[in-house]
Amino acid sequence: MEFNIKTAHAEKQHGHCVIVGVYESHQLSNAAQAIDDASNGYITNILKRGDLDGKLEATLMLHNVPGSQAERVLLVGLGKPADFTEKQFCKAVRASVKAVAASGTTEAVSFLAELPVKELSVRWKVAHLVEVVLDATYRFDAIKRKKTATEEKEAKKELKQLTISIADANALNEAESAVAEGRALAAGVSLAKDLGNLPPNVCTPTYLAEQALALGKTYGLKIEILETDALKELGMGSFLGVTQGSEEPPKFIVMQHLKGHKDQKPVVLVGKGVTFDTGGISLKPGAEMDEMKYDMCGAASVLGTFKTIAEMKLPLNVIGIIPTCENMPDGRATRPGDVLTSMSGLTIEVLNTDAEGRLILCDALTYAERFEPSAVVDVATLTGACVIALGHHASGLFSNNDDLAKELLNAGEAALDRAWLMPMWDDYQPLLDSNFADIANIGGRAGGSITAACFLSRFAKKYEWAHLDIAGTAWKSGKEKGGTGRPVPLLTAFLVARANKLNA
Ligand code: BES
Ligand code: MN
Ligand code: ZN
Repeated sequence: MEFNIKTAHAEKQHGHCVIVGVYESHQLSNAAQAIDDASNGYITNILKRGDLDGKLEATLMLHNVPGSQAERVLLVGLGKPADFTEKQFCKAVRASVKAVAASGTTEAVSFLAELPVKELSVRWKVAHLVEVVLDATYRFDAIKRKKTATEEKEAKKELKQLTISIADANALNEAESAVAEGRALAAGVSLAKDLGNLPPNVCTPTYLAEQALALGKTYGLKIEILETDALKELGMGSFLGVTQGSEEPPKFIVMQHLKGHKDQKPVVLVGKGVTFDTGGISLKPGAEMDEMKYDMCGAASVLGTFKTIAEMKLPLNVIGIIPTCENMPDGRATRPGDVLTSMSGLTIEVLNTDAEGRLILCDALTYAERFEPSAVVDVATLTGACVIALGHHASGLFSNNDDLAKELLNAGEAALDRAWLMPMWDDYQPLLDSNFADIANIGGRAGGSITAACFLSRFAKKYEWAHLDIAGTAWKSGKEKGGTGRPVPLLTAFLVARANKLNA
């Protein structure tokens, strides 16, 4: 998609399509008003007839509007002016893109970034407009057969060029850099979606390792891939216990984005990379088991965030750690009742082989200690219980540090990629007691996402740590099945805020 920035007059636009906003109760945005004035009240008349009520996300495509040189004018409902904040802005942009796409228009000029949204800057509006447009036009057809020339010709035309008009000519530079910012975020989100959407026979641990190496090559990042022998040497008995039922070799990926001061302690991101979770010997039921290809979305979000911050050249030290493997049933697989010795030395009684995420993450958390991190954030599709608790809107957040939790909550708010703080009181810890080992890997059905976090907390005592359970937010089920790219926006906002603070 090509984006251009200019200061334009809505009524003077030639070309395919002009996008303008209309509030509820027939209140016109400036751009809609300009077209209305030039057309002797054509838009006002249409609104009076009731063809568009101005409700948020409603759209109406008009053709050959008198007084306008453009082929089409798209009216987009904005809702009530007083309610028009960040979320509504993004929803209106998304609705406009869907309507433009449905019409087969290839070029458009959008005046939505001229709308006042609270006190938000041109930069915020343009960056979010770009990100939402790229998110809304995302397609995953990597696995479909290639279209024939005839099919290609008959296929619906796609939006290729979007001009964004801004009101203030002095803000052109700011808007241009906002386009780059929006693109960088969208690139990371899109990578995370792609990796999630790829089938599990393609997106294997080896494939994820190759993606990390490719990122390293493109952006000059140091990438290490630790193989089985090295993992044995390190004593990662917990991670290896999960991998041993699979024919696919495990990989332990370490990525280094060191663009901050050399004495600055890094932020470490850890992502769960189970490329397929059958449950192991504690086999999952068959229904919807295909969705367990998404059990590597934590890893995908770490890779996506690395792409974004590398594109942005974010001046911060960030380490990414991805333990990746499959969880399969097999003659060699870990049995319920087996005891594994983790890298930390703690022994773990595996009461359920389907609670594998925490078993691979705990060794990664121990490995993270060597970087003397300023903070560690792990991201994992960890528990079905988190989906029951929070549904699909918020990721579950757990932390051993209130300030870090606040930073992440704020980042989620700002990025419209929210998390919700869950309790992790000591009261829950005894649920993990084992008669035979130092700790059990499950704590029973009640508070399942909390006991999972409590398990991880045992391995994160040496630094400030937070855990994001993204089981409900990383992908959508049903007709629109697909990766969402979350929480790349949250993680990016968190890192950008940290970089801003350090470089202030
Ligand atoms: N990958 C799953 C968590 C999951 C389940 C995410 C459903 C999204 C949808 C994880 O490895 C798992 O199986 N967790 C178990 C834990 C239980 C055995 C304590 C779960 O949530 O059922
Ligand atoms: Mn599992
Ligand atoms: Zn899992």
